[in-house]
Amino acid sequence: MNAHPLEEEGRSTRSIDPCIVVIFGATGDLTARKLMPAIYNLARESLLPANFGCVGFARRPKSHDEFREEMKKQVSDHSRVKPIEENIWSNFHEKLFYHQSEFDKDEGYEKLKGFLGELDAKLGTKGNRIFYLSVQPKFFPLIIEMLSKHGLIYKENENNWSRVIIEKPFGKDWKSSMDLQNHIQKFITEEQTYRIDHYLGKETVQNLLVFRFANSIFESIWNYKHIDHVQITVAEDLGIGNRGEFFEEEGLLRDIVQNHMMQLLSIVAMEPPIDLSAKGIRDEKVKVLQSIRPLSKNDFQNNLVRGQYGKGFIEGEQVKAYRQEEEVDKSSNIETFVALKLYLDNWRWTGVPFYLRGAKRLPKKVTEIAIIFKDAPGLLFKHHNSKNDPNVLAIRIQPDEGISMKMNCKVPGPSSPVQPVKMDFRYGAYFGKTPPEAYERLILECILGDSTLFARADEVEQSWKIFTPILEYWSKNPPKNFPNYPSGSWGPKEADDLMARDNRNWRIP
Ligand code: BG6
Repeated sequence: MNAHPLEEEGRSTRSIDPCIVVIFGATGDLTARKLMPAIYNLARESLLPANFGCVGFARRPKSHDEFREEMKKQVSDHSRVKPIEENIWSNFHEKLFYHQSEFDKDEGYEKLKGFLGELDAKLGTKGNRIFYLSVQPKFFPLIIEMLSKHGLIYKENENNWSRVIIEKPFGKDWKSSMDLQNHIQKFITEEQTYRIDHYLGKETVQNLLVFRFANSIFESIWNYKHIDHVQITVAEDLGIGNRGEFFEEEGLLRDIVQNHMMQLLSIVAMEPPIDLSAKGIRDEKVKVLQSIRPLSKNDFQNNLVRGQYGKGFIEGEQVKAYRQEEEVDKSSNIETFVALKLYLDNWRWTGVPFYLRGAKRLPKKVTEIAIIFKDAPGLLFKHHNSKNDPNVLAIRIQPDEGISMKMNCKVPGPSSPVQPVKMDFRYGAYFGKTPPEAYERLILECILGDSTLFARADEVEQSWKIFTPILEYWSKNPPKNFPNYPSGSWGPKEADDLMARDNRNWRIP
């Protein structure tokens, strides 16, 4: 049996099969910025199988060499390790190919089948395939159906396997995600389906499991008896860039909250799994989502805030309002900020609010999970010159990855005021190297056939069950005050009011 990705010795003991990765949407932005640099870095770290090929599938005509040159430029620009190493690139270059076709043309898939057969003979890739769908979601059903129709995807057997990676978004709401799931499961099994949520590929997110379940001291305090509340923040200073058309369809709730933030919440709140298998971990994550209390009408009005950025300043530079961005409707009601309060109706978390805040155009990029503990009982140190804060465990997902603990400490001297201090662990300083990009890890896990770090169908379904009523409420009740926060601020006043009603504040991470 293969060892698990979270087990220390796992990397070296897991066997890796030869394979070909076919990327649909090979001329797109994700391939250029993330996928190709990730595959190159896997090659650089000798993590790819010795018998390996990568084929870009897209609609624009171009030769293998043109594609290779374009990819070389993209990898040079976007690789986390620069400059690219010529000897590694030239070896990698030999394994890179291009296949032009429309997504809906039978002959393109027939030709692809023949071409992959030729590559198997040349590269020794033994018929093992990964199809990476880095395309607009509307093409997912079509491509999967065509791959199946032309015998390109098949169930795992003793000779070879085929797997499909699907980029998010997986549906636009509960119904569309169920329709998509019902359609694709006619052609591929759950075991073959790898739904990407790239947050699961982040080292710091994986470390959450290790932190919680490999340290005995936290388990006994990780519950409603000791924790006052939890804050999860995914803040970005960037706006929507050139993704206006995409964002007008999606909005922030679908783009970040329904997937990335719920993954963070599930891992923070889950029970210890019975083992580290994909099933063991994902079963526990689903239970968390199932325990989330559905939002009531009162919650929609008082515990849920949406916002949209107006113009403002980020690091001293003036930036435009969302409604002025390219391909955005001048009176758009799409949200770029979401804050909400959730409760988990289960034994561990009863009565503990989870506050979630995700947004574009806040003052800085930071993803953080903060566990705020209950106040120390009694008034022993609450005299006038002391600042007696609650203990906070802040898990910094990015950037400056690390974990810090805030505690109260006596200031030296006879007057004994108490002051909060921080105990800090930083990945960079301690391990002295940059963590791999999420996509490196996820592509590698798919090659290894381990789906632990991918979202399972029932996780996606549960998450949509929570958020679809919000989307419906919002579409019936358009916002009246957009834009309601200037770029470069921490969001609309209503988000502060939400906290103030509970006598709490948002942390400034
Ligand atoms: C993507 C969203 O899934 O995640 C983007 O579509 C967002 O809008 C990005 O910017 C954030 O990812 P990261 O890894 O930079 O936190």
